[in-house]
Amino acid sequence: MTTDRTFALDNADGPKAPTGRRFVVAITGASGAWYAQRLISALVGSGHELHLAVTDYGKRLLHDELGMTGLDVHALAGLPEGADLREHRVFVHPSKDVGATIASGSFRHDGMIVMPCSSNTLGAAASGVGDKLVYRAMAVALKERLPLILCHRESPLSLIDIENMRRLTMAGAIIAPTNPAFYLGPTSLTDVVDFVVSRVLDLVHVKHGLSMRWEDHPLASGKASD
Ligand SMILES: Cc1cc2nc3c(=O)[nH]c(=O)nc-3n(C[C@H](O)[C@H](O)[C@H](O)COP(=O)(O)O)c2cc1C
Repeated sequence: MTTDRTFALDNADGPKAPTGRRFVVAITGASGAWYAQRLISALVGSGHELHLAVTDYGKRLLHDELGMTGLDVHALAGLPEGADLREHRVFVHPSKDVGATIASGSFRHDGMIVMPCSSNTLGAAASGVGDKLVYRAMAVALKERLPLILCHRESPLSLIDIENMRRLTMAGAIIAPTNPAFYLGPTSLTDVVDFVVSRVLDLVHVKHGLSMRWEDHPLASGKASD
C-alpha cells in the first residue's frame, strides 16, 4: 500500500480520553483530499468519535492526491497501521449502505462535515435525494436540524451551484468553501491546508491549534506599530 501520510497529524500515542462528542465526516470527489486527512486526524487526535463515509469518487481523489490504494483509514486518522480503530472511536460506513447508523435520525451527532464537497454532492443535498449513504446522512442532518457543513470546491461556480448553495443555506446548512486566506503569512502547504481546516473546526466548536487567530497576529488592529 502506497500512502503519503504527511498531512495527517500524528496520533500514534494511543487513544485520547473521549470527549463525548461525535462527528460524521464525508469525503467526496472534489479536489482537496489533504483537507480531509487533516480534518480527520485533528478530530481523532482530540478524542472525538468519528464516523466516516467516502464516496467512490472520494476514494479516487484519495488515490490521485494522497497516493492511497483503497481506503486507508489509519493514514487518514494519523494512526499507526494495525491500531484498533474502535479503540480510537473511528467507524467507517460503506458508502452504499443507507442502512448504516448515520442514515438514521435516531443517530445523534455534533455535526456532519463534507470535506471536500463536490458539486455533485452539493446538488444531491439541495435536491433531498437519499439513495446513497452520504446523501441520506446529509438529508438527515438537515431534517434533524443538526449542523451540516459543506466544504465545497469548484471554480468557477454555475448558477446551479449558487442556487444549490442558497437553498441549502436556507435549509440550515453552512456552505464553507475550501478557500484559503493568506493574511496569516503561510510558509508551507500545511499552513494553507490548516487555515481552511481550522475555520471548519471553529464552526463545530472543536478546539485546535492548527492556525493562529488574527487577534494574535502582530499586524492585527491595535498591535501593529504606526
Ligand atoms: C481528479 C478529479 C478531481 C475532481 N475535482 C472536482 C472538484 O474539485 N469539484 C467538483 O465538484 N468535482 C470534481 N470532480 C468531479 C467529481 O468527482 C464528479 O462529479 C463525481 O461524480 C462526484 O461524485 P461524488 O459527489 O459522489 O463524490 C473531480 C473528479 C476527478 C476525477
